Amino acid sequence: MSEIIQASKRIPPLKGHLYNLSNYNQIKAEFSWDDMGRDFIRANGKVNAAYETIDRHVEEGYGDKIALHYVNGDEKQTYTFKEVKEKTDHYARVLKKIGVKKGDRVFVFLPKTPECYISILAIIKIGAIAGPLFEAFMREAVKERINDCGGKVLITDKEMVKRVPHEEIPSLETILFAEDIESVPVDAATENIVEWVDPEDGLIIHYTSGSTGKPKGVLHAHRAVVHHYISGKWVLDIKDNDVYWCTSHPGWVTGSVYGLFAPWLNRATIVIQGGRFSAEAWYQLIEDLKITIWYSAPTAFRMLLSQEDLLEKYDLSSVRHVLSVGEPLNPEVIYWAWEKLGVRIHDTWWMTETGGHLVVNFPSEDIKPGSMGRPFPGIQVGILDEEGNELPRGSIGQLAVRTPWPGLMKEIWGNKEKFDNYFKYEGWYLSGDLAIQDEDDYVFFQSRSDDIINSSGERISPFEVESKLIEHPAVGEAGVIGKPDPIRGEIVKAFITLRSGYEESEELLEEIRLFVKNNLAAHVAPKEIEILDELPKTKISGKILRRELKAR
Ligand code: PRX
Repeated sequence: MSEIIQASKRIPPLKGHLYNLSNYNQIKAEFSWDDMGRDFIRANGKVNAAYETIDRHVEEGYGDKIALHYVNGDEKQTYTFKEVKEKTDHYARVLKKIGVKKGDRVFVFLPKTPECYISILAIIKIGAIAGPLFEAFMREAVKERINDCGGKVLITDKEMVKRVPHEEIPSLETILFAEDIESVPVDAATENIVEWVDPEDGLIIHYTSGSTGKPKGVLHAHRAVVHHYISGKWVLDIKDNDVYWCTSHPGWVTGSVYGLFAPWLNRATIVIQGGRFSAEAWYQLIEDLKITIWYSAPTAFRMLLSQEDLLEKYDLSSVRHVLSVGEPLNPEVIYWAWEKLGVRIHDTWWMTETGGHLVVNFPSEDIKPGSMGRPFPGIQVGILDEEGNELPRGSIGQLAVRTPWPGLMKEIWGNKEKFDNYFKYEGWYLSGDLAIQDEDDYVFFQSRSDDIINSSGERISPFEVESKLIEHPAVGEAGVIGKPDPIRGEIVKAFITLRSGYEESEELLEEIRLFVKNNLAAHVAPKEIEILDELPKTKISGKILRRELKAR
């Protein structure tokens, strides 16, 4: 481990950057979450995250400020804060009209469009719980999630609804099409549409993968708004003139917390880009909109790095602050950005369950490439052994965080046992990651402690893929692992046995791959499938030994 730390040449803050946090140790010593929350919690103890995100700015006189730029190929739209507020109010009234009440789960299944963001806010505005779904999900993935928490309403569009098996989702009462919502008549005279709720009331539910079982519904509370706001201000470093772009879809926690809540709580102009990844389109977007803050993931940076000659063709000089999340950020990428773009990439570590940044790099502090940064003020990290005791600095152990903090999830929907598993050591949240912390507080990611696969920053359950694979008539048994990959971090690799009567062929393997892709989602479909005569198993329980597969 000392090797890692010595190898990490520090990168000091660059001159010309704007700093708003210049004394980490002092701020850490004086920090209190209660102080941070005062602005958001009303005198009567109530809060509404959607009000704080949009309405507040209109009330404070910023209604004409540009809230968002939407770009999808040649299509371009711009909305002011006032326009976003009015549209959100209308959506909220439509939802009320069809009977949505506080605490109901309302799902959003839309591409990255303004309507996707507006729907999420409208749901929250009336006190319901928003369930945003990643746009690439297929029928089964959609069904499983809505069924798990009994979603009552779904906002989607006329194309994506083809991937919604509504006849198999009994709780679903209404499907609203984004194309039609605007023309639904509502009584606009209805006084304030905002439902003031308790900080502990449900805000948003994100489904994420564990290493066993079905995806779990991570429920966050309105209190998270405090965490979103202050990390947006300090870590994203948002100032009034910033044009901010987070590349993640709001179906993932990065896309909601740092694509929607944090930037808008800080009154930034956000960029929503539709369509798929292309280095040209991304660079063009940065140049055209003069993007100043850019939050993305290592896989995307590695893809850009592999097309380095493109850099010269674009003017990217507007970019002043770059951040990364979701998977290990290799030092090579940090050095590349530093040398070629003149910017540092600031790694951030957190999880769906944590609701906001926990380990970060501030623009004002040294970066040690290879580390994820240091704990956010108000956050205390521990490296624990198997008994839950704190290990000395420099040891590898389980990365844990002292509870509570405002962004921390409120529950795993309908599964107290899974929820309690995170808190098996008194006073700690257990992340499932293994890490080292050095003498200067910097935290170095080592690996997951379980079998969860991280491909392009997306968390994939081997269990989910295996369960799907064995539904295919040709597949006997299946073991799924993450295979190291230079661009995507890991790729999904499946080892299977064939049932008798089936012969190995390219066509069959492709058919099996498509079976997973078309039922679950493209990003979880195995990139490689290898056929074995038998899979390695434990002697007693007969469980498939993924570790042994991985060792191959
Ligand atoms: O293993 C860690 C990895 O992603 C996991 C969390 O995934 P998810 O809930 O999908 O949230 C991703 C974005 C918030 C973690 O347990 N991870 C996240 N950030 C980093 C990371 N691994 C290494 N470096 C990071 N900065």
